[in-house]
Order: sequence, then structure tokens, then C-alpha cells
Amino acid sequence: MSLLNPLTPLNPRILNWRGLRVWLVGASSGIGEALAHELLARGARVVLSARREDVLRKIADEAPDPQQVLVAALDITDMQQVLTAQRQVFERWNGIDLTIVLAATYQPMDTASLTIEAARPILRVNLEGVYNLLAALLPTLRRTRTGHLAIVSSVAGYRGLPRSPVYGPSKAALNNLTESLYLELRPLGIGVSLVNPGFVQTPLTALNEFPMPAIITPGQAAREILRGLSLGRFEIHFPARFTLAMKILALLPARLYFWLTGRITGASEKQHSSPGAEDPITPQQAPTADAEDQQPGQGPR
Ligand SMILES: NC(=O)c1ccc[n+]([C@@H]2O[C@H](COP(=O)([O-])OP(=O)(O)OC[C@H]3O[C@@H](n4cnc5c(N)ncnc54)[C@H](OP(=O)(O)O)[C@@H]3O)[C@@H](O)[C@H]2O)c1
Repeated sequence: MSLLNPLTPLNPRILNWRGLRVWLVGASSGIGEALAHELLARGARVVLSARREDVLRKIADEAPDPQQVLVAALDITDMQQVLTAQRQVFERWNGIDLTIVLAATYQPMDTASLTIEAARPILRVNLEGVYNLLAALLPTLRRTRTGHLAIVSSVAGYRGLPRSPVYGPSKAALNNLTESLYLELRPLGIGVSLVNPGFVQTPLTALNEFPMPAIITPGQAAREILRGLSLGRFEIHFPARFTLAMKILALLPARLYFWLTGRITGASEKQHSSPGAEDPITPQQAPTADAEDQQPGQGPR
């Protein structure tokens, strides 16, 4: 495999879905549910995982052939549940060819409502959950030197965005993590893909009150993911008309990035209306560790 030859795909191409054993973690709604329907229609065998077992069973009931589908309910934040599901799934189907990790949670938040209590549940699902799954999967993948792992992150992880002090960083970490995994696992024969969607109309984005540019349906997102996997892509991002603009923004120097992103999102107007936003911090104004120690909870928020 030559990494430098642009004609060589970075991953093995998945060209035949019939009979492929696919584990979808986060399959009960949105993109995961659409992937389940799309994969089952293409003849793949699909394991459906998420917390809501009743919803997963309804999706399973729609499979063209009951032998094609397995339900393994789990909470990705619970290591024991993830391990138990992994053992059961691998025993039942004697292995898994492709695992797609979609489980995530999202809460728009500004810095005024940012607390560790608000951040922890998001980090636990979006980040710790992925590590739980990796801990359960990697020993087998490394031993058998087979399989493919696709981690669903987000373009929100490319650079910092306003009102996204937790979700964005959790996805930035996944982007970095997936590259790290690729470098180590690909030489062993294991495929590793990073999926970075733009806006998709799902329960996750239903909370957004702003207009979402270039938004697509979960079905379109699912087909883009399968297309990217069939082309052997490392990063599968879509829709291109939105993600390419995000990629260009990500290349800008900080000053230009902040100016442009502030204007596009309207964040700069709010920022400039706050008094002293541009004042330099003088030594007298800067809080000292001592001052904070003496007055717990009284420091600047
Ligand atoms: N929608 C977008 O615009 C967009 C954009 C970029 C990236 N993404 C990413 O795409 C992925 C899928 O998102 P979506 O939009 O399809 O959202 P969604 O409809 O809310 O789906 C999220 C899935 O994660 C599962 N989940 C949540 N917490 C879980 C937990 N503790 N344990 C196990 N499963 C859990 C949910 O099932 P249960 O509630 O049944 O557990 C559900 O199946 C996410 O990684 C998201 O960050 C979405």
C-alpha cells in the first residue's frame, strides 16, 4: 500500500454489502436508523445497538429477512454493557466486518451555562463511550487483523464554534483519535474511516433554532457514508457544498477565522456588546490563584 499514491484508496474498498456483518452503535434514530434500513436493503447483516431496545426491535422487524438482524441494546457509557454486547455479537456471528459508531448526544450551550455538570454527560457519551467501544473491540481486531472501524464525528470538530463548548471539542477529539487509530491499525490490515457530516435532519439537530445550511435527510447521509466506504475513503464528509466551505474556513489564520465565523454565526455582535471585551488584562485585573483560593465561588466566571 502506497500512502503517497493519490490513486490508491486509504482503506480497502467495500464493494459487496451482501452478507457483510455490520455493527451499528447508535442505530435507534437519525443517521444510524437510516443506515440500518439502507444496509438491510443491500443484503448486509446488521447488529442494532443503542439504549432503546423497543425502538431497535421495531427497526429489526422491518428487515427483509429476520436472520439478517440482531438487536444488542447497550448504553455506550457503561463499559460492562459494551463488553457483554461485544462478546454476544461476536459469538453469535463469529465476528464483525464493519463497526460504525454513531452514538452521540448534543446540547447547544453558551459559556454562561457551561458547567462541568452540563459538559460531563456529553463527554461521557461522545468521547468516553467511543473509548469503551474501542476497549471492547480492539483486542479482537488486532488479534485477527481484520475488520473496519468507522467513527462518526462532525464538521463541528474542525474548529471552535460559538455555543459549542462541549459537543465541538468532543468531535475534535474524535477527529484526532481516528487519525491516530488509522496510523496504527491500517498497517495491521484493519480499515479505519472518519465520518464528518454537515447538517442532517435528525432528532439531534431538532434542538437548533437557527437555519441549518445545506441540511440533508438521514437517508442521504446514510448513502453518502456507504458510498465513501465503497470508495475506500478515510474521511467521508458531506454534503460537499457545505463541508468544503467548512474545510476552507478551517485553514484560515485565527484572526480571519474568528472575524468570519463571528460574522456568519452572529456571535461577533454579541461579543462586542459586552463591556471590556477587548480590554487587555492587566496584572491587577488578572485573578491570582491565591485570590481564588480565599474566595471560593467568587472568582470571575
Ligand atoms: N444530525 C446532524 O446534523 C449531525 C451532524 C454531524 C454529525 N452528526 C453525528 O452523527 C451521529 C448520529 O447522530 P444523529 O444526528 O443521527 O442523532 P440521533 O438521531 O440523536 O441519534 C443518536 C443515536 O445515539 C444513540 N445514543 C445516544 N446516547 C447513547 C448511549 N448512551 N448509549 C448508546 N447509544 C446512545 C441514540 O439512541 P438511544 O437514545 O436509543 O440510546 C441514537 O440511536 C452522531 O455521532 C452525531 O454527532 C450528526
